Amino acid sequence: MPLSIRPLTPAIGGEVTGIDITKPLKPEEVAAIEAGMDKYAVLVFPGQNLTDEQQMAFTVNFGAIEDARGGNVTKPQDKRLVTGMNDVSNLGKDGKPLARDSRQRLFNIGNMLWHSDSSFRPIPAKYSLLSARVVNKKGGNTEFAHMGAAYEALDDDTKREIEDLVCEHSLMYSRGSLGFLDYTDEEKAMFKPVRQRLVRTHPVTGRKSLYLSSHAGAILGMPMPDARMLLNDLKEHATQPRFVYVHEWKLYDLVIWDNRQTMHRVRRYDDTQPRDMRRTTVAGSAPTVAQAAAE
Ligand SMILES: [Fe+2]
Repeated sequence: MPLSIRPLTPAIGGEVTGIDITKPLKPEEVAAIEAGMDKYAVLVFPGQNLTDEQQMAFTVNFGAIEDARGGNVTKPQDKRLVTGMNDVSNLGKDGKPLARDSRQRLFNIGNMLWHSDSSFRPIPAKYSLLSARVVNKKGGNTEFAHMGAAYEALDDDTKREIEDLVCEHSLMYSRGSLGFLDYTDEEKAMFKPVRQRLVRTHPVTGRKSLYLSSHAGAILGMPMPDARMLLNDLKEHATQPRFVYVHEWKLYDLVIWDNRQTMHRVRRYDDTQPRDMRRTTVAGSAPTVAQAAAE
């Protein structure tokens, strides 16, 4: 059976069947997946029982793996997975759910806020690929919102108002909004804010989108309360159900999303029970502030 993609909602998401991604792909399969990503922004591959090595091999079809340093508070000696794999489970190195007061766990709660992966990096991520190795029985859906569809639905005055705005993004803004405020001097330096355009243009499709993320906590040249209110209003607009696909995880699902045109969040789950989700990330190619205005 050849590869085929079935739309999941009118605005966002497609389900891919007819492919085994544990094996090396043919160039035409890679091209079909890239084209599907441009069109649907999120692709679901059910029933792909991957090892970490297979997941990384599949990932590099779409670009280099992003350097994960500077993205969390987990100390190198506490890491559960090999370099190249981002651990978004609730597990410690011993394979057991992290303690309730674990700093690592509390920091990771920030993933329950709407965000775009690595928007806190000067060159943010292209794709994220998430593999479900142990699914939690209660909660833990991941929701994806299409930022291109959300941008297109704005009125013209708002589009004009935000066209050239530049935001500051930092992990300290997203975590700070949850009351996680204690950082070492080393972490403060690591999480220094970076600049991102509020409206970005997709490098392949040319489609404009809102570049929102809970890591965004300030807008250049705008008083902080005005900036936070504008970002909050835009987030409310962009996450209406008509722009959103809700993914209910099944064991061995692999989901890819394009961080250049989506936001996502995980919903709360029973974190006394294991949830083993492993992410690989494809690096982006350019800073958004390098994009010309009004392309
Ligand atoms: Fe994420």
